[in-house]
Amino acid sequence: MRIYVPRDAAAKALGADAVAAAVSAEAARRGLQVDLIRNGSRGMVWLEPLVEVVTDLGRIAFGPMEPGDVARLFDAPDSHPKALGLTEELPWMVRQTRLTFARVGVIDPLSLKEYELHHGLKGLKRALSMTPEDVVKEVTDSGLRGRGGAGFPTGIKWKTVHDAPGPQKYIVCNADEGDSATFADRMLMEGDPFCLIEGMAIAGIAVGATRGYLYTRSEYPDAIEVMESAIQVARAEGLLGQNVLGSGYAFDMEVRMGAGAYVCGEETSLLNSLEGKRGTVRAKPPLPALQGFLGRPTVVNNVISLASVPIIMDRGAAFYRNFGIGRSHGTMPLQIAGNVRHGGLFETAFGLTLGEIVEDIGGGTRTGRPVKAVQIGGPLGAYFPRELFDTPFGYEEFTAAGGLIGHAGLTVFDDSADMLKLARFAMEFCAIESCGKCTPCRIGAVRGMETLDRIAAGDAAAMPVLASLCDTMKAGSLCALGGFTPYPVMSAVTHFPDDFALKKEAAE
Ligand SMILES: Cc1cc2nc3c(=O)[nH]c(=O)nc-3n(C[C@H](O)[C@H](O)[C@H](O)COP(=O)(O)O)c2cc1C
Repeated sequence: MRIYVPRDAAAKALGADAVAAAVSAEAARRGLQVDLIRNGSRGMVWLEPLVEVVTDLGRIAFGPMEPGDVARLFDAPDSHPKALGLTEELPWMVRQTRLTFARVGVIDPLSLKEYELHHGLKGLKRALSMTPEDVVKEVTDSGLRGRGGAGFPTGIKWKTVHDAPGPQKYIVCNADEGDSATFADRMLMEGDPFCLIEGMAIAGIAVGATRGYLYTRSEYPDAIEVMESAIQVARAEGLLGQNVLGSGYAFDMEVRMGAGAYVCGEETSLLNSLEGKRGTVRAKPPLPALQGFLGRPTVVNNVISLASVPIIMDRGAAFYRNFGIGRSHGTMPLQIAGNVRHGGLFETAFGLTLGEIVEDIGGGTRTGRPVKAVQIGGPLGAYFPRELFDTPFGYEEFTAAGGLIGHAGLTVFDDSADMLKLARFAMEFCAIESCGKCTPCRIGAVRGMETLDRIAAGDAAAMPVLASLCDTMKAGSLCALGGFTPYPVMSAVTHFPDDFALKKEAAE
């Protein structure tokens, strides 16, 4: 008998370890040999801990499971009250296009053998048979853009590093994942670590880097544990080291842990932190691609950008490019969170409308009240009202609507949300997380909180002050922390004027 219980941190937070222990105890009590696999999450977080039992028909899902539900798995799985049907046939799974997350939740994350059985290492093997220039071209032609937020074309970044002279170059994977409502990086690292290792090795070969760093945060102990174990396995099996898969190429990597400052997800602060310095932003130029880690040419890419490379190299640029809309090619792992019925990770080609994502896939709010606003792209992303629900999910489309897709985290709010309070929270977040380097970010966010307090107290004269403060922050901040905080603030003012006007009336 083979049973899967996720080791994913979200599943564990919801009790997966206790369920796994109950499975082992029940098997021992019955004298049964059970193959218990701790897999990644399938992404249906509202059903976690989601347990799967292997049958002749396929894997049957049960959830959300509690230890007390386990005994019946062994007695009468077919009539189990928490049986959901074949996992692969659940609507959440059927509607997805899982390219980057194809193996997450499916395989044992630390089995390199299973990884290979599920198309792993094919991309790397192909890359090893090509010239570095052709690998860079393949990634460029795929249309892959950075999934960390800015959407910069990955192939162009790689070409800059490839063309830069230097005795030593680096690949830095940005796994800081500080945006609210984002968990795709964590899920990928916990559920399919070899995919990220493979992507980093391909990047190294493409640009001529022999060393990689995975920078993540102390709040991700499970991801760190899985990645470190996977790196050990990869070294032992010749996937990392002086002679990658016997090719003569050298590439090795290690995990570095930051202390969870939001600004350390910004690539230049990250590089400072990685160098053991205080995490403050650096002025650009020079670009990290030319003078990055220790002043050497460095690729800084997000986890999902790098983890999307193996399938691009395996199936080819055209295969990947054909998914999506406009200049948004391929797929994006949407992370649906907040006040929503079906929260979790849903990978799909770009192009679904915001309304389809929130209402059809997310199932509307968990409270059953109407959706009022959706914040997309983390704490620096704009609030979208229902009137913008026909916006297709794509980089340019969201920019045109006054927002950004960022790392594709969506936080849903129902009609009880107070947008003035949320605008104040955006300013407060910026004030707390600012690295302090730029005055408009460091001081502006504090003045922004005060100004919003004045508005809440009914001071109408504070409204234009808020607008000009936001303009100053946008124009005068080196990085997007101060530069983008005005977007949630001003989108709240623009789309939900009543929430600002009502405060005034109440004060009068
Ligand atoms: C304040 C701030 C925080 C950021 N946090 C992250 C993060 O947690 N993860 C990430 O991949 N990119 C983050 N970014 C974007 C990075 O600076 C950079 O653009 C990204 O790592 C590049 O990788 P990509 O091209 O693969 O997206 C942040 C940017 C800013 C301004």
